Amino acid sequence: MSKGLTQAAAHALPDIAAAVVRWQKVHGRNDLPWQQTRDPYPVWLSEIMLQQTQVQTVRDYYARFLERFADVATLAAAPVDDVLGLWSGLGYYSRARNLHACALRVMDSHGGCFPQSAQLLQTLPGIGRSTASAIAALCYSERVAILDGNVRRVLTRVLGFAGDLSLAASERELWRLAAELLPRRSLRDAMPRYTQGLMDLGATVCSARQPACEICPLAPCCVARRLDQVHLYPVKTRRLKRSSQSIWLLWAQTAAGSIWLGKRPSPGIWGGLFCFPLFDDRAALQAALPGRYHSALHDMPVLAHTLTHKDLFLHPVQVKLAGSVKPDAGGAWVRAQDWPGLGLPAPVRKLLSGLSGPTVPDAVSE
Ligand code: ADE
Repeated sequence: MSKGLTQAAAHALPDIAAAVVRWQKVHGRNDLPWQQTRDPYPVWLSEIMLQQTQVQTVRDYYARFLERFADVATLAAAPVDDVLGLWSGLGYYSRARNLHACALRVMDSHGGCFPQSAQLLQTLPGIGRSTASAIAALCYSERVAILDGNVRRVLTRVLGFAGDLSLAASERELWRLAAELLPRRSLRDAMPRYTQGLMDLGATVCSARQPACEICPLAPCCVARRLDQVHLYPVKTRRLKRSSQSIWLLWAQTAAGSIWLGKRPSPGIWGGLFCFPLFDDRAALQAALPGRYHSALHDMPVLAHTLTHKDLFLHPVQVKLAGSVKPDAGGAWVRAQDWPGLGLPAPVRKLLSGLSGPTVPDAVSE
């Protein structure tokens, strides 16, 4: 147990299920597009999108995805580049690659139907334990626990669970307790409501920094609140260590507006996306161009971009080239009308869309 925490008495678990279900009916989110069905395909799609992205952003992407890929067979039959193209801007692109791999697996190994249990769902690419449980609970009313970041916060606070979640044993114990807390009756209605209710509570009431305990249905039985220790949960001593990296981006463009783009290797940063050539330093970037262009390089302002484990400092360098010139970096000229449809990293799309930085400098004659 970590310093500052008072050990909660190891007594019977509180009965939170009924309160969560009742609260969800009245105060939870019930009109989200993916809540109007129990078909696992759209529910799966929404759960993957919601893993690292806010509901508001997901809404538009979700609608566009379903319009283009109406069912799992259509998604599986599409080129992965089309999937990455539609995902462009959502970030965490391994989700999109896994989405496509998962659709292929459902077609090839499950006859085109999603498996009907959390245990089997978990065997599919990109579906972890909590996501599998969410799909199974929401679509099939299976009595299984979820434990994403928000729900971890809710449960550790309610229970006064002071185990260090950096340790596998504590994580296991919390999963066990989460399963104990599940509803025990009227499961067909209660499981989807309880599951959604915990997610809603975590997102809208039991927030990390400003929990609204005064309107929380679990406040009367919340150990952390009783001890005035809400902010100490969840306990995690080993946090992700962040690093930083500077990257130089070669933004080569022809007079007609074609852009030199290459496909990023996977795994790796922006794997599978189309991107400007990347370099560790400016000298390496310059070396990818014929000498006559070296004085025509235009350094743009540095862009800061945050990844999960890393702060990136992006140094875009623009140059106008003749279409007959090929930078010494994998890729091809992509016409102005073609790049918007490609899967591009968000900062590259932003640069190309003119949402940041100055315009392309004058062309250099050959
Ligand atoms: N986050 C993860 N899953 C969610 C869901 N089904 N509704 C709202 N937010 C979520």
